[in-house]
Amino acid sequence: MTVAAIVPAAGRGERLGLGRPKALAVVGGLALVARAVDALVAGGVEAVVVVAPPGDEDTVRAALGSRRVVVVPGDDDRVGSVAAALDALPADADVVLVHDAARCLCPPEVVSAVIDAVRAGHPAVVPVTAVADTLKRTGAAGEVLATVDRSGLAAVQTPQGFDPPTLRAAHQRARERRAAGGPVLATDDAGLAEDLGVTVVTVPGDPRAFKVTTALDLAMAEALVSAGPA
Ligand code: CTP
Ligand code: MG
Repeated sequence: MTVAAIVPAAGRGERLGLGRPKALAVVGGLALVARAVDALVAGGVEAVVVVAPPGDEDTVRAALGSRRVVVVPGDDDRVGSVAAALDALPADADVVLVHDAARCLCPPEVVSAVIDAVRAGHPAVVPVTAVADTLKRTGAAGEVLATVDRSGLAAVQTPQGFDPPTLRAAHQRARERRAAGGPVLATDDAGLAEDLGVTVVTVPGDPRAFKVTTALDLAMAEALVSAGPA
């Protein structure tokens, strides 16, 4: 039995604005996608499928160096990119993680906690952190409509873990909804599983699993790497 992971790395990185895919941005001499793969392997992942921007597969392979990964081309959005990797998973995978290349500094403990929870029998698992900011619902003109009770809210990270049939069924359902012209509202894989009626459980996430989205995030990642292991 194998613990496998899909690393969606096919985004364009528009908010980072480097003019090339974000997964190829470099932190401490290593591309984000390479760091993300290393974090997964350190946490117990045995087989990795990286999803590259179509046409950039060779560049992504080069950034991954000698790491043993399968690289497949992605799609226009993240849901499509994850779906594009499903057929490349090892047939004997009993756990599959989906982990953003952009969350390149995720500690191995988060990875192993997600794997353990799936192995304990939970079909869908997400790492979460507490929400630090006060949250308000706002209207069309930016006016505050209400203060949201933060106590029942959590910020969701990756890697998210699944038993493989659940992840496949979730993406199949998303495909069917799309084909029928319906909305696919979920922005993460667990959201697609929720749509199936699956109960998603949480494990503790970690602030270091933040997603590199903007130039500030990249500077923060660089600072963390040069400060050494925390
Ligand atoms: N992703 C992907 N395929 C897409 C879009 C996103 O594989 N079509 C991946 C990204 O590479 C990233 C993760 O999904 O690792 C999270 O997406 P996001 O942070 O939005 O990255 P980008 O889409 O690259 O950034 P932006 O939205 O700023 O363009
Ligand atoms: Mg995006």
